[in-house]
Amino acid sequence: MKRSKRFEILEKRPVHNDGFVKEWPEVGLIAIGSPKDPIPSIKVENGKITEMDGKKREDFDFIDTFLAGHAINIENTEKAMAIDSIEIARMLTDINVPREKIVKIATAITPAKLVEVVDKLNVVEMMMALQKMRVRKHPSNQAHVTNLRDNPIQIAADAAEGALRGFDEEETTVGIVRYAPFNAVSILVGSQVGRAGVLTQCSLEEATELKQGMLGYTAYAETISVYGTEPVFVDGDDTPYSKAFLASAYASRGLKMRFTSGTGSEVQMGYAEGKSMLYLEARCIMITRGAGAQGLQNGSVSCIGVPAAVPGGIRAVLAENLITTMLDLEVASSNDQTFTHSDIRRTARTMMQFLPGTDFICSGYSSTPNYDNMFAGSNWDAEDYDDWVVMERDLKVDAGLVPVKEEDVIAVRNKAAKAIQALFKELGLPVITDEEVEAATYAHGSNDMPKRNVVEDLKAAQDMLSRGVTGLDFVKALHKGGFPDIAERVLSLLKQRIAGDYLHASAIFDENFNVISGVNDQNDYMGPGTGYRLDGEKWEKIKNIDFALDPDKM
Ligand code: 5AD
Ligand code: CA
Repeated sequence: MKRSKRFEILEKRPVHNDGFVKEWPEVGLIAIGSPKDPIPSIKVENGKITEMDGKKREDFDFIDTFLAGHAINIENTEKAMAIDSIEIARMLTDINVPREKIVKIATAITPAKLVEVVDKLNVVEMMMALQKMRVRKHPSNQAHVTNLRDNPIQIAADAAEGALRGFDEEETTVGIVRYAPFNAVSILVGSQVGRAGVLTQCSLEEATELKQGMLGYTAYAETISVYGTEPVFVDGDDTPYSKAFLASAYASRGLKMRFTSGTGSEVQMGYAEGKSMLYLEARCIMITRGAGAQGLQNGSVSCIGVPAAVPGGIRAVLAENLITTMLDLEVASSNDQTFTHSDIRRTARTMMQFLPGTDFICSGYSSTPNYDNMFAGSNWDAEDYDDWVVMERDLKVDAGLVPVKEEDVIAVRNKAAKAIQALFKELGLPVITDEEVEAATYAHGSNDMPKRNVVEDLKAAQDMLSRGVTGLDFVKALHKGGFPDIAERVLSLLKQRIAGDYLHASAIFDENFNVISGVNDQNDYMGPGTGYRLDGEKWEKIKNIDFALDPDKM
């Protein structure tokens, strides 16, 4: 065939490097409405759910049993299930219906019914609903802070810069597992230099992650994964009950935690049972609620390539975020892992959460260049910082970040590098040189950093654990090493474990360690003139980009 020049040009566009697939329900490659998805139903006998979504109790798998026992408000369920789904959908977009009323209904219906309700909405209506339904009035954002070499000085500096730029939570993980204690302490110390009160985590295998939390190396946890079919749980030697137990273990030590799930995981694991991605995800969201976790990181997260490949997939990702909020859970709404070669497409995908606002719009905006992101690359990274704040400024939307001055960034990066240098010295860890401090102060990524002795670092990191070094030792080391202000901040973070207030849904801290959560910062959106408005000091900050012409200076 003679080729059209138009088509030849179009084929060279970045979007053509993305993967697409037509609907294939047998393997679960369908966003919503698989022929095998159940029809909503409920039957209650003697205070017990005996039928759910067309399945009898004796046929329940362990997820069904868990949901029927722990995730559905039995007193309310027959009444709530009897409401027409279109009516509930309209309540979601009706500014006169408060979120509490919807939470009451949503927590009494089945997974199939939740999907039927949100499937009545187009994406603009879903965004309207999300604006009303998210738990915390003030939206926020979360950063990834990692690098290819697990360089602790760079982690500290990037965490400090990220905190200054506005992230309320910062997350690291490891390239080499044995580096974990260093990564955790580096992000902890660095973040507190950038702004007091930022929460930090280190994503690891679950037992190690819990241990680091209990030792005071981290302030919260997030990657406690749940899945929508029984075989995927079994594959990981888990059940909804074991995950609920893990959630309680965190709560017992006063540590904030949330679960993680998302469309596409069951397809990727090969056990979708022919069900649609959103139906399976609705089960995950209900497991989270049933386990008593305060929140959920969802929106496909690391599986985003799967829903993004099918028709309506990105809409389903928005729908899963919305369902999370309908169940009164904090939502950290993904926008993390990269899924497309197209800048247009990655922006469009993010607007679904950016515009209405969620508890954490990105649950992993990379604070580094893409090559340093150890979560397999993020949809947004350090090279997009200015685009992000310009979009906030253009649209008068608070999406969590603020413009910063170069000299301020240099100052906090330098202080963070020096603080981690002092801490390493006091704890007898391998030397951090002045040359490394200087490099981290001005670095963009790990290519700009001198190489460290990895063998020596790994040995020391493990040794630190076996010596029983805890968060309190970090406080002492920072104090002795000449950083009493940062010592104070880390101590304040540890003290919060005893107060427990940050176990409330969607809790973050302001710079004075006051909790801001769904309890004292309730989302009260009910149409124009209500809810969170970007005004006052924050708007002045977002307006004020350094690269705009200034009439006062002309
Ligand atoms: N479902 C369940 N867990 C997920 N994670 C990421 N995406 C999903 C998903 N769709 C969790 C995994 C992973 C970490 C980064 O987050 O535990 O290791
Ligand atoms: Ca995350």
